Amino acid sequence: MALKNINPTKTEAWKNLETHYENAKHYNLRRLFQEDEERGKGFVYKFDDFNIDLSKNLVSKETLSNLLSLANDVDLKDAIEKYFTGDIINVTEGRAVLHTALRSNSEEPVIVNGKDVKPQIRTALRKIKAFSGKVISGKWKGYTDKPITDIVNIGIGGSDFGPRMVVESLKYYQNKLNTHFVSNVDGDHVQEILKKINPETTLFVIVSKTFTTQETITNANTIRDWFLKSATVFDVAKHFVAVSTNIDAVVNFGIDKKNIFPMWDWVGGRFSLWSAVGLSISLSLGFDKFRELLDGAEKMDIHFRTSDFDQNIPVLLSLLSVWYNNFLNCESEAIFSYSHYLKDLPEYLQQAFMESNGKGVDRNGEEVTYQTGTIVWGSVGTNMQHSFMQLLHQGTKIIPADFIGFEESLYGDNDHHNKLMANFYGQIEALAFGKTREEAHLDLKVNGKLDDLARLLPYKVFSGNKPSTAITIKKLTPKTLGMLISMYEHKVFVQGVLWNVYSFDQFGVELGKELAKKMLKS
Ligand code: F6P
Repeated sequence: MALKNINPTKTEAWKNLETHYENAKHYNLRRLFQEDEERGKGFVYKFDDFNIDLSKNLVSKETLSNLLSLANDVDLKDAIEKYFTGDIINVTEGRAVLHTALRSNSEEPVIVNGKDVKPQIRTALRKIKAFSGKVISGKWKGYTDKPITDIVNIGIGGSDFGPRMVVESLKYYQNKLNTHFVSNVDGDHVQEILKKINPETTLFVIVSKTFTTQETITNANTIRDWFLKSATVFDVAKHFVAVSTNIDAVVNFGIDKKNIFPMWDWVGGRFSLWSAVGLSISLSLGFDKFRELLDGAEKMDIHFRTSDFDQNIPVLLSLLSVWYNNFLNCESEAIFSYSHYLKDLPEYLQQAFMESNGKGVDRNGEEVTYQTGTIVWGSVGTNMQHSFMQLLHQGTKIIPADFIGFEESLYGDNDHHNKLMANFYGQIEALAFGKTREEAHLDLKVNGKLDDLARLLPYKVFSGNKPSTAITIKKLTPKTLGMLISMYEHKVFVQGVLWNVYSFDQFGVELGKELAKKMLKS
């Protein structure tokens, strides 16, 4: 059975939220903190190594309670169960959505079309483990009998963003293999990678569910031609492996059938890093760390599936997102990581959120009459403080932001880390509370700007009242990264349920591709 089809705007809770908004639109964070001394503690949610502080959002307990009623009115509980148990919730493509099964350690079977998918997942994981072990240990040899030193992942979209973001984020834990990613059909992108590698010691992992994607196949062919300048067709099998469902096309390419890793139609591209699509992660970190990543994701899955909504982190984050998008008319949300390792996270999340929920037709086939998918963007602190933060602090838009920070740095340089985190908290505080006219006046006076005071004063005021969520995590590890990604995946899912859209297709990316093909032919 598919997800229920409930127009959120017709629910009792939505109507209550509209009424509530008339009062809530005057919320002011300074006042909310003055009126409730416990606010700093009352909006904090702890789970495992995560601490989520919602206190600097433009909400009261009443807002949250109305939002939680919305989750009940759209029967989110029912949707979550269907999501985890293999219902065909990707209705437009007739597929289940089971990235959660990929990381599950439980014995509970997950049935798709009458068959338990868990055994195939276990087999694929064993294959990933054995293969990664061979390459990392040097047992896997290239055509001149040398061990592999470099991995090149060839893929695009979900076959690139996820593995690339994870490899980059967990660089600290990386082994001796150098990992590169080629995605863009831009030949210059390919050449820049080829410059860095040696055909004798490089393993190419072609990741393409369909094995027909123009960019990936073009890049794979160019790279194979380059490889064949120094090797023979008989050597291709030692240097190219594939992750795909299109076995015939992969074999035609010259890859040994033994070296094809599976993908399944019940795993969407943008949620696939937990499958063999993550092979380059396992190669780069070793299988054990890959497993830790999966285990972290599973931890968050269990929290999401079993926690009451009023304590459920992905649910709360999603409800907040709907509050901002549909009631406060915010158009975008920002993600700011105070760890340079996470610099690719916004790009990865853009696909997760915007390819999933950038939909204008509801589950009834009708055009929606309300806003759906938010624009997601972001960067790393502190670099972004020297860039677009001006607009967030003193511009005219409200952009709710997630600030992600870590209690510990990886190399343990406390001086740097204290400065980094002082900036993390400083930004959050500046956004929330701003600087009043009186405070700005005093500052100018103290700084001896008496002559210019009246002229400068308006420019020195910060209105504040800019919302943000502080996500502090103990330490960046495979486990906590897995939890973080899974948290956002479930946020995507809940948004889609609340907006009554189908989150797991992506027909919107097709038209441009079709036209590009036509143009090439003409
Ligand atoms: O961008 C659309 C998309 O279909 C993504 O969902 C997918 O991750 C990507 O293209 C690549 O597709 P494939 O893995 O089939 O090459």
